[in-house]
Parts: sequence; C-alpha cells; structure tokens
Amino acid sequence: MTNSTPSSPGQTFVRFDLLQRIQHIIFLISFSVLGMTGLPQKYPLAWASTAIFNLVGGIENARAIHHTSAIVMMIVSLVHVLEALYRIMVQRTPISMIPWIDDILHVYQDVLYYLGFRKHKAYYGRYSYAEKAEYLALIWGTIVMGATGFMMWNPISTVRFLPGEAIPAAKAAHGGEAVLAVLAIIIWHFYHVHIKHFNKSMFTGRLTREEMQHEHPAELAALEAARPTAPIQPAELRRRQMLYLPIAFILLALFSYGFYFFIGYETTAVTTPLLGETAPVYVPATLTPSPVPSPTATPNASASLTWNDTIGPLLQTKCGMCHGAASPTGLSYDSYANFMQGGKNGPVVVAGNSASSKIVVLQTAGGHPGMLSPDELARLSEWIQAGAPEK
Ligand code: HEC
Repeated sequence: MTNSTPSSPGQTFVRFDLLQRIQHIIFLISFSVLGMTGLPQKYPLAWASTAIFNLVGGIENARAIHHTSAIVMMIVSLVHVLEALYRIMVQRTPISMIPWIDDILHVYQDVLYYLGFRKHKAYYGRYSYAEKAEYLALIWGTIVMGATGFMMWNPISTVRFLPGEAIPAAKAAHGGEAVLAVLAIIIWHFYHVHIKHFNKSMFTGRLTREEMQHEHPAELAALEAARPTAPIQPAELRRRQMLYLPIAFILLALFSYGFYFFIGYETTAVTTPLLGETAPVYVPATLTPSPVPSPTATPNASASLTWNDTIGPLLQTKCGMCHGAASPTGLSYDSYANFMQGGKNGPVVVAGNSASSKIVVLQTAGGHPGMLSPDELARLSEWIQAGAPEK
C-alpha cells in the first residue's frame, strides 16, 4: 500500500503480501484435502467416496490424512492470528476485515443498484462487505470445525467435562459445517473470485489500477489522496514489539498446549480406557450338566435296541411329562411293565407286530401333543417288531 502518487493507468497495487499469499495457498490445500478425505467419511456409500478410499488405501489412511491436514490448518490459523496481531499492535494497520457501519450502507446501496434505483454499486474500501462476510465465515468455520473435530478426536477427554451426547452432536455439526463450507467455497467463493472476474491477486499479490477502480474505488481514492506516511521511528517500533512479543508468546504457548491435547492426548477411544482390576472371566466351577442326550438323536451302535437301553429313555424324555405316574389314560412310560400293560384303553403295543400297535398307529397319524420324529418312530417300530425286548 505504499504506492506513490500520482498513479499511472498501468500501475499495480499491492493487495496481499507474500506471507498472506503463502497462508492462502496452505489453507487452500489443507481445506481441499480435509474436504476430500472428510466428506467420504460422511457419505461412505457414495461411489466417489469408495473411489477416494481406494485411492488412499482405506478409510484409516483417509483419517490419518484428514488429521494431518487438520494440524496444518491449525498451524496456518495460528500464524494468521499472530500476524494479524502484529499488524494491529505494531504496524497499527487499520482493521479492515471486520464489518462496520458503512458496510450496512453499502448493502443498502447495492440492493438499490440491483433493483435499478442506482446507477453504480457502492464504493467499497479495502474489503467489501461480501469479502468481510466470507472472512468471518472462515473464522467461524475454523473454530467450529476445530472444536468439534477435537471432540471426535478425543472423545474420552471431552466427556470428562461434557455429557456423552456431545460426541454425536459434534459429529453432526462437523459434517454439516463441512458441507456448508465446501458449498460456500464452490458456489460463493468461486463465483466471486473466478467466474465473475478472475481475480488473481491472491496469487500475484497485486491488483491493477483498473481492477482497483472497479472493486475497491474507495480504497483507491484513499490511497491516492494520502500523503506518504513517515516510517515508524525505530524506538517506537521497538516499544511496540516489546508489547507484542509477550502476548504472542503466551498465545503460542496456549496454542502449543492445545495442539498437544489435540494430537497427543489420546490415540483413540478404544485404546484409552484404563484397565480396571484384572479378574478371570466367569468359569463355572463344575461343568454345567448337558441336557440328557436323546438316545436316538445320536444313534449309538453299541446301545442295543431294548427298553432299558434305548426305548425306555426315549419315551420317558419325549413323552414322560404327560405319560408319567399320573397319565391321562393311565398309560405310563415309567417302567417296562407299566408301558406293556398300557392304560385304561388297554395295551398300546402288540409285540412282534408294530403295524397293529396303537402307539405306532397314533404316532404315524400325527396330531398328538407329543410327537416322535420319523427316525425315532422307526426305531420304536423296529423295537416292537423285534418283540419289544426289555433288555
Ligand atoms: C402334552 C401331553 C402329552 C404328551 C407330551 C404325550 N402325550 Fe400321549 N396322550 C396325551 C393325552 C392327553 C392322551 C389321552 C387323549 C388322547 O388319547 O388323545 C394321550 C394318549 C396317548 C396314547 C393313547 C393311549 C391310550 O391308552 O389310548 C398314546 C399311545 C400316546 N398318548 C403316546 C404318546 C407318545 C408315544 C408320546 C411321546 C412321543 C406322547 N404320547 C406324548 C398327552 C400327551
């Protein structure tokens, strides 16, 4: 801004110094990488997300890149804070990026212009209200993303002083703000600096006089009207720097402490929980008795087909709850003798003739409250056919 007057048409004006341009480039890169590795985590099933995960070698790599870019963005933000403070405290540069009363007037004038009630747009100073709004949105977005990002990165530390619901809330806010920020850049920012008029000043650092006339006429007028300002006296400069340094140092210390918490405090929620007492997992003192094996469920070749070995236990297991000591028809499977005797309707077994045996007929017909499996029924028939031996 130390342009000498009078100005010639070919003259250019410094808009951004080297440090600002470097900040912008690094911020641009970290922002893009954060978006490209973050949005796929929000929309993991989209084909583009899968493509990105495949490209970086999996979601864990995407997260690592995301975290690294976040650290880069935090460092750029710190540099920006320290730089802004230096400009304000030491160089006494007028604060030109914070909205002010004249911005309200400019909005009003531009509305009139867009409605056709005014011939030209408002005369912007160094930054128009639109640029100021975008700058504030960036600050706000960085704070929100940093805070919610911290909460997801360090959930255990977070729930020490916030309720657990804060973590899913942070996740929702982080994802929502991310979509908002990416859309704001693609739609709003790209339109204003690339499409409406390709403004290269953030890369070249300079604006031509013509561009200044169009976009920052009030600033141009002020620059051309101003008398060259005397450089700050060395003693005064040193006095201001001595004031600035301790504040910058405290900020640096606070940020470093914050970074430490952000990055090194806990690795993940899974590895963090402290081990409590160590105790063996529950082991029963005695083996739980396994259910009485159904004799036919696991046919045992050595077990002979007798009442004592197979048929008695089978009927007692499958039918015993009804055909016990108090049976509806007196038919009890308690013992061989009771079974062969039958109930009050007479015997249910004709030894040597399973087809005539009532028990086989009824079980074959089906619909009984207790039913043998076809396999079990076959064994029962076989046993009867063989003369229904007791042992
Ligand atoms: C939920 C109870 C219940 C179960 C389990 C049960 N029954 Fe019965 N059973 C009855 C009742 C009640 C009757 C008498 C009424 C009838 O004949 O339907 C009966 C009758 C019978 C009769 C006719 C007896 C007679 O004297 O006329 C036979 C045979 C029989 N059951 C066989 C079996 C067999 C074999 C099993 C095991 C696979 C079995 N039941 C399981 C309730 C049961």
